[in-house]
Parts: sequence; structure tokens; C-alpha cells
Amino acid sequence: MIKAPDYVLQVKAYVPGKPAEELERELGIKGSIKLASNENPLGPSKLAIEAIANCTAGLNRYPDGGGFYLRQKLSQVLGVNQDCFILGNGSNELLDIAVRTFMGPGDEAVMARPSFVVYASSVRIQGGIPVEVPLTGDFRHDLDAMAKAVTPKTRMLFIANPNNPTGTINTEAELDGLFASIPPEILVVMDEAYYEYVTAPEYARSMRHFLAKKNILILRTFSKIYGLAGLRIGYGISHPGILDQMDRVRPPFNTGAISQAAAMAALDDVGHVEMSRKINNQGKEFLYGELSALGLEYIPTEANFIFLPVENAASLYEKLLRDGVIIRPMGPGAVRITIGTPEENARLIETLKKILDIKGLIIE
Ligand SMILES: Cc1ncc(COP(=O)(O)O)c(C=O)c1O
Repeated sequence: MIKAPDYVLQVKAYVPGKPAEELERELGIKGSIKLASNENPLGPSKLAIEAIANCTAGLNRYPDGGGFYLRQKLSQVLGVNQDCFILGNGSNELLDIAVRTFMGPGDEAVMARPSFVVYASSVRIQGGIPVEVPLTGDFRHDLDAMAKAVTPKTRMLFIANPNNPTGTINTEAELDGLFASIPPEILVVMDEAYYEYVTAPEYARSMRHFLAKKNILILRTFSKIYGLAGLRIGYGISHPGILDQMDRVRPPFNTGAISQAAAMAALDDVGHVEMSRKINNQGKEFLYGELSALGLEYIPTEANFIFLPVENAASLYEKLLRDGVIIRPMGPGAVRITIGTPEENARLIETLKKILDIKGLIIE
């Protein structure tokens, strides 16, 4: 049988959750809620839905591979030259393109643990070596330790800000410190999938480092606050010299016409983004209060999900699942729960009340 290189075979395939409909059939339940994948529970903007409906006539044609109009729109919205944007089939594809562009077998990439799992698998598939640096005691990227983990073989450094799965952020001062202490040849990937949810004033402003001509690739997505995860579209911001190299690796028609049109319309609907952030903040405050009352520890979040260190994550996950509440176990000692609509959040809490005793322990 034909065999992939060992470094590919070392990687485990991503196991997606089952569709909610299939789980309902298996468990014999109805009306389950999904708080597992950090999607926007309000859905996309009405403007995006209209744009999708208006886009069907030209589908016999290939899309505009360079995404001219979407890049033009991003340029207007963010005040950065159009040449400084690259589009991807989700920001996930851009992570992958960056790794394939800048890393070869034996090269190292520094990243945090736990963080977004795709960084390590993407690096391994390229024959590279992920160098994983534990988070700080308060569950944030330890940028000092990450800078110290850099060696002459390091090509890239990944920062999820906010981090998935912990929802924590790094500050402006910390990012300044990192750039001051690493060699300028290393590409710093700032993965800002949850950027639009952040409200903390100390949040690191990656754009400032981009404007200061640092070696930075900022990644953002339409999958989260814009509510378009199913369409797969995200964008990167970097210098034309970096993007020119990534363009050699990018497949010619990697983002579809419908996705581009929906993304443009979504950028027009500032009200929808503001409403989504407001509902998320209200949900966050509600959940903080209720989780504390239940005796559960949680990590304060700047994203649309909450990380809870728990004793028996698998059992909590299973029990919630049987009651139709789908969350995400994160190894044996933690779960991650997406903040939902007010109704979904209330249902989560009611279900937890049935499952936990007064000390916050699972009733077996
Ligand atoms: C930190 C982080 N980065 C990137 C992504 C990828 O998002 P997408 O490919 O949908 O843009 C996700 C999705 O969950 C994420 O949590």
C-alpha cells in the first residue's frame, strides 16, 4: 500500500463532533443545543443572507481568485493597503498556507499548550517540529518563555489572542517585549479569530506591530462573530513581501464567490457585530454568576466561550450530552463551553443544576 511520510502518519486526523441531528437520533432526544464550536448563536447578518441569495446566478463561473472586491472592502474598513490582505478558506487554511510557505522538514515553530490544535498538526505535516510552551499559571500565553524557546531553527511563532481553549489574552506590553527579544526573521502569527469579541483595554494591538513593519501575519475570520463558519472564509494581514510568497502556495480559487459576497455584506453590518458582542457579554456575566453559585471554577474570558477546569471532564460532557447540551471536553481536566443565546445559557445552567451536587461535584 502506498504510504505517506512518517511525519504525516504521526498526525491524528481531526475528529469532528457528530451532527446534532445524528446525536439526537442516537440518544433518542430532541431539541439539543450546541455549545461546542464557538459559533455565533445569533447566526449571520441579514445583509449576508441577502448577498448569498443574490449571488447564485454566476455560479457557473470560477470565483475571483484574488478576492479583489473583498480585499478592497477590507482595505476601506481597516485603513490598510489592499495589497496587505490575503483570503483563505477559513483562517485555518491561511495557517496551513503560512506553514507550507515558510517551514521545511526539521524547522521549528513555537506555540503554546494548550492552544489551537491546528498549529501543531500543520507543522508536523510539513515535517516541522512544534515546540510547545505551557501557558502561565493564569492560563495565558507565556510570551517570555516562548521567546526563550526560540532556537536558530525557529521559523514561526504562533499566538492565539484570545487563546482557544482558555479565552485569555496577551497585553500590548507583553507583545512589545516579545518583538524586542526575538530575531526579526521569525514570522509571528497572531491568530485573532475572536478579535471582535475582546473588550479589555490592555488587549495587544497587533496592527501597531504590522504598521511598524514587524514580521507579523495577523489572521482573522468570518466564522466567529460574523456567523459565517459554514462558508469558510477568513483573511490575513501582512506585508506584500510575505503575502507574495504565500500566494505561490495558495490554491488559485481557494475562496468561493458566495463566501466573498457574504463576507463583504457582513462587514457592512456593524450593528450585527455590536449586537453579537453585547449578547455575548451579557451571556458571559450571567454564566459567571451562575457558575460561581454552582461552585464551579471558570477562567475569565475575552472570547465567546468559557474554559472550566473540572475534575471529570468526560463524565460532565456525557451527562450534559444525555440532556441534549453539547459542550467540548478538553482532555481529562477541563471543558470548554460556548456562550449561547440567553435561552441556551439558561438551559445549560438548569441542566448543570440537575447534574451537580452542592459542592459542584458531579452526582454519580
Ligand atoms: C484560535 C482559532 N484560530 C483559528 C480558527 C479557525 O477558524 P476558521 O478556519 O473557521 O476561520 C479557530 C476555530 O475554531 C480558532 O479557534
